[in-house]
Amino acid sequence: MKPEIFQITPMMPHVEAALRDAYTVHRLWDALDAPSLLADAGPRVRAVATDGHAGLAPDVMARLPCLEIIASYGVGYDAIDIPACTAKGVHVTNTPDVLNDAVAEMTIGLMVSLCRRIPQADRFVREGAWLEKGYPLTGELTGARAGILGLGRIGKEIARRLEVFKMEIAYHGRQEQPGQPYRYFADLTDMARHVDWLVIIAPGTPETAGIVSRDVLEGLGPDGHLVNIARGSLVDEPAMVDLLQSGKLGGAALDVFADEPQVPNELMSLDNVVLSPHQGSATTRTRTAMGDLVVRNLAAHFAGEPLISPVV
Ligand code: 8YV
Repeated sequence: MKPEIFQITPMMPHVEAALRDAYTVHRLWDALDAPSLLADAGPRVRAVATDGHAGLAPDVMARLPCLEIIASYGVGYDAIDIPACTAKGVHVTNTPDVLNDAVAEMTIGLMVSLCRRIPQADRFVREGAWLEKGYPLTGELTGARAGILGLGRIGKEIARRLEVFKMEIAYHGRQEQPGQPYRYFADLTDMARHVDWLVIIAPGTPETAGIVSRDVLEGLGPDGHLVNIARGSLVDEPAMVDLLQSGKLGGAALDVFADEPQVPNELMSLDNVVLSPHQGSATTRTRTAMGDLVVRNLAAHFAGEPLISPVV
């Protein structure tokens, strides 16, 4: 008898094929009658495959008395109730490391796009405006100061890339990390006042919710730029919109939002903003590696072997 699992969201074809081979997969997101599926199969389900956005809703988890493991396709696990999993002895795995390069690369892309106004330049050429006049001069990353909020594994990859841009790098986190070549700021607002670019790459947790407050954004100021590649929950989004509209915050490059896929309407018409639909890890190469980790973590669990990338 194959173990029964719930798949909460669609996954890449190779992941779905591997899951189907090894398990009886119940596709919760496209079930015609999800409540009935939950009631029928829920009591037998031993594992959940999900992603960083969907996680596992507490009311669904409460219907899975035999749940042993949640394998998530993403590094962030803010949509999974970790204390509840710990209390119930449910393992959780995520997909760290394999996405570091893709997320760091996207961060650089967003910064260059915002600074050199690449989306606007593309439109300028397509609309034939170049035939009439030259494109206005832009800013430049070279030599500017960047502050990284969250110098973890991805944060360090971003920092390395920014060094190549000859930027001066600082960071803020819960504590100073010994041996780092970058200046540490114990206070985020102080760092925001010091830098030209604030790059958010810290996890979404209760502690980081709203950490990029109005004060921090005002510290960044009219010449400052915000880059969020982490989670929308870290930013006071209404304050950010307000300050971008009034020019008290210079610009923002945003891959994540508080209520995805909803994006505040006010941002759509702002020229000092680059918008991206949560694309940090979204390359074929990286998503393939993330999917493989989901499959391998589940396989390890059901073989009684150590998990490859456990959160708990
Ligand atoms: C994904 C992410 O968007 O890893 C994360 O935490 O936010 C992303 O890589 C997501 O988990 C995949 O759906």
